[in-house]
Amino acid sequence: MLGGAAVVGVGLAGLTACGSESATSDTAAPAGSAGGSPSSTPASSAQSSAGGSGGITVPVADVPVGGGKILAKDKVVVTQPTAGEFKAFSAVCTHQGCLVGQITGKAIVCPCHGSEFSITDGKVQNGPAETALPAKKVTKNGANLTVA
Ligand code: FES
Repeated sequence: MLGGAAVVGVGLAGLTACGSESATSDTAAPAGSAGGSPSSTPASSAQSSAGGSGGITVPVADVPVGGGKILAKDKVVVTQPTAGEFKAFSAVCTHQGCLVGQITGKAIVCPCHGSEFSITDGKVQNGPAETALPAKKVTKNGANLTVA
């Protein structure tokens, strides 16, 4: 099952599983493992670098220039509008609360009603949403990004 695959390598496998194509299944199976707290299994080794109070760690390599990565489990989108410039936003659409589903070109797209948000500042590029995605703080630590 999906849960099994995610447990194998908590940190890395979990992040990889959130990739663009599996967004649907990711959001469809929240009930399985943790029962509320998605970051409650630091058992594996890869997680140790997080070292922080609820910070979300993403490998820089997972965030393409001119695009980004949606972390469905954490409800966060991390983008890199230009090389070396990283941004993070809430992945919860400001229209009716769906999770944004993919990043195409320079837009973060919500699958529910097609709203599009800028990867640069989260602002609405296409409705029906009217409010920008709230920005989050992102910090680069070597090969990883930490989203607070
Ligand atoms: Fe995102 Fe409607 S909930 S466009």
